[in-house]
Amino acid sequence: MNLRLTLESLVSSTIEKTTGADSCQALVTPAKNPQFGDYQANGVMALAKKMGRNPRELGLEVIKNLDLGRLAEKVELAGPGFINITLDRLFLSIELNRLSSTALVAPAAHPATIVIDYSSPNLAKEMHVGHLRGTIIGDALARTFEYLGHTLVRHNHFGDWGTQFGMLITYMQALPRDKALGSELADLESFYRAAKCRFDEDPAFAEQARNNVVKLQSGDPECLALWEKFISISVSHCQSLYDKLDITLTEKDMVPESFYNDQLDSIITALTEMGLLTESEGARCVFLDEFRNKDGDTLPVIVQKSGGGYLYATTDLAAIRYRCTALHADRVLYVVDARQSLHFQQVFAVAQKAGFAGQHCRLEHLSYGTMMGKDGRPFKTRSGDTIKLIDLCEESIERAFELVTEKNPDLTEEQRRKIAEVVGIAAVKYADLSKNRNSDYIFDWDTMLSFDGNTAPYLLYAYARIRSIFRRESLDPDAVYTIRVESDPEKALALKLLQFTETVETLAEECLPNQLCLYLYELAGIFMQFYESSPVLKAQGADKESRLGLCQATARTLKQGLGLLGITTLEQM
Ligand code: ARG
Repeated sequence: MNLRLTLESLVSSTIEKTTGADSCQALVTPAKNPQFGDYQANGVMALAKKMGRNPRELGLEVIKNLDLGRLAEKVELAGPGFINITLDRLFLSIELNRLSSTALVAPAAHPATIVIDYSSPNLAKEMHVGHLRGTIIGDALARTFEYLGHTLVRHNHFGDWGTQFGMLITYMQALPRDKALGSELADLESFYRAAKCRFDEDPAFAEQARNNVVKLQSGDPECLALWEKFISISVSHCQSLYDKLDITLTEKDMVPESFYNDQLDSIITALTEMGLLTESEGARCVFLDEFRNKDGDTLPVIVQKSGGGYLYATTDLAAIRYRCTALHADRVLYVVDARQSLHFQQVFAVAQKAGFAGQHCRLEHLSYGTMMGKDGRPFKTRSGDTIKLIDLCEESIERAFELVTEKNPDLTEEQRRKIAEVVGIAAVKYADLSKNRNSDYIFDWDTMLSFDGNTAPYLLYAYARIRSIFRRESLDPDAVYTIRVESDPEKALALKLLQFTETVETLAEECLPNQLCLYLYELAGIFMQFYESSPVLKAQGADKESRLGLCQATARTLKQGLGLLGITTLEQM
């Protein structure tokens, strides 16, 4: 049960009943401080003002009419008209015990079709840190939507179809025939650089490259064959990274730019028919009034170049139409770098105007900021090169290995390697997920691999520690333990556990994984307070059983929450 929303609807309808107002949206939030109860409702004050009534008087009347049944132990008026709600311990116990045999969060009442476009690197080059955030955040969101029972479609909108491929094909043609392409392309980054160098220096090569783009896009068999070879090698580079990072994207989620190639003509036809196209310096553009530069001139969205070529925006328009019309998406989410904000605002607006996205289809750009080094500049190697993601993962695992060795020297090397693999990857993912995606964040090995604070090692350790409680007395961690919430620390823990639902549902709505991270961090902290104040293994009878039940529910919630973030837990650390 979503406690917050349940209370919100009960309070809202009571205010409506009490005042005769036809619609009142009370705002219920978890109380900041236990002295304000567990939840605080706000909604009376604004209404009282509108009605010219005394807010405290109105508040008391609402409380008199408010029937929270078995939910609440106490409802009080506070300050100028807040309603403080303290939940009932028996109710909390019953809810927690009910959860022990079902999913922690109930599936969505109205499952939606959601398309999520994430990772989506350009295949001409190797994936670099710039793609890390989108890949990690997108994957956490995808897991969350799936968990809530939505119909989820992952789209990896690979960039596989631009002018760069003409250049790469031309470079491949110039390679000695007997050279194995696989080893040539082992390092895509240097291959790309070498091709670019030829392109910039040799006009004949550049001319050939431009011809090859046109040939490729009109289906020339030789160009296509070389392109396919290149793409398949580049895709396998990406896939090995996805495997390393435990990212759920697979081959069947590949819906790259080239997929839309034969739909682009009809996008232009549709825009023409609707009278949305304007010719400007030979290019075809859509001008929308709402997009202007600082001089007040309207900005064009270019959809066809003067030579007839299509652009990034054209493909995105085709992608929107496909997702909304053919796939019947209710929501299309784009987890893409903040620098593409204007692009998405424009293509969304054009798509809506042109009817490529129906009224009901929500298009959302979930943007994210840049990963910065400690020096406050975009994260690079010491020599200024971009960092390869695979190297970043390896380094994190290596550092985690040192950390685990320090913490737990008695484990065998094999055990420590296994743990380090999980902790290293978890640390990279969690460091990213725990920051608000809208801002830039500083990538810092020391903080992300620390056992203190809002980090992966801290949470993984908290989980492993709870599991060890069961091991100590060889208790079955999956048995049914009946919870009976009594003391304050038990109550605080029980409440936090039951707030998992509202946290996950808010995540699905607002798409900010840092909120789930904060929740898990706070849960682990509240658990520690409970554990320090309440003996578990030394308790007797029903007390012991109830506290084991709280330990079990905490472990289960941590595991599920980390799982939604794409992080695997460890039984031992
Ligand atoms: N390939 C693009 C890049 O690397 C990102 C694509 C994002 N998705 C989209 N539908 N435009 O910048």
